[in-house]
Amino acid sequence: MIEQEEEYWGKFAPTYDNDQEYIVGNAILQAITTKLHEECDLGEVIEFGCGAGYFTKVIARKARHVIATDLSDQMLEVARVQLQKFQNITIQKANCEDTYFPSGRFDSVFMANLIHVVENPMNVFQESHQILRHGGLLLVVDFTGYGMNWFEKMKLGIRYLKKWGMPSRYVRHNLSPDELVSFVENIDFKVEEVRLLGDKTKALYLRGRKA
Ligand SMILES: C[S@@+](CC[C@H](N)C(=O)[O-])C[C@H]1O[C@@H](n2cnc3c(N)ncnc32)[C@H](O)[C@@H]1O
Repeated sequence: MIEQEEEYWGKFAPTYDNDQEYIVGNAILQAITTKLHEECDLGEVIEFGCGAGYFTKVIARKARHVIATDLSDQMLEVARVQLQKFQNITIQKANCEDTYFPSGRFDSVFMANLIHVVENPMNVFQESHQILRHGGLLLVVDFTGYGMNWFEKMKLGIRYLKKWGMPSRYVRHNLSPDELVSFVENIDFKVEEVRLLGDKTKALYLRGRKA
């Protein structure tokens, strides 16, 4: 199963960032980037599902050190090239549903556009809780169709099919702020902020604390 997911994502790696921009549009990527710039003192960070590293470089400016992880070797190869000038980023392979990091190792866990594609989001939040220190920050960004009108959804779907074909089998198309909050509260995170970003295309932005 996990091998199939790795293969699925790996084939998009060489053009991932450009394709993503074509599909969701530059405005939402900028809205996420601007919001991430408001973060500060992220400390020792682990990123799950870093892909080609689009948001890793934003987070790295706010962190002492980032371990950027992904399931796909091909994604990690592209990320390694794109992030080579950052001294405070380490790139490592890891499955975010079952990592090998010790308990309490990180100040912050960051994931962008991962929760809507994983088989079991609860495993990801459980793992995040385990490897965060007490009071550590959970930062989740996730594209969603929630709040989009049907015409924009249809156009986005066509752009997706054109670039990447059929979506990953686990994909959640319309995760709502309440659903995301309930996932993380179930794992004993205290939600500090949740909001819907974007205009034509949307993303959820959530900050939670390990209680
Ligand atoms: C939609 S892409 C998002 C990439 C990047 N975060 C971004 O926003 O540009 C999802 C990424 O999650 C990775 N991924 C999927 N399942 C994973 C898992 N179980 N563990 C780690 N990474 C995973 C994929 O390989 C892919 O790079």
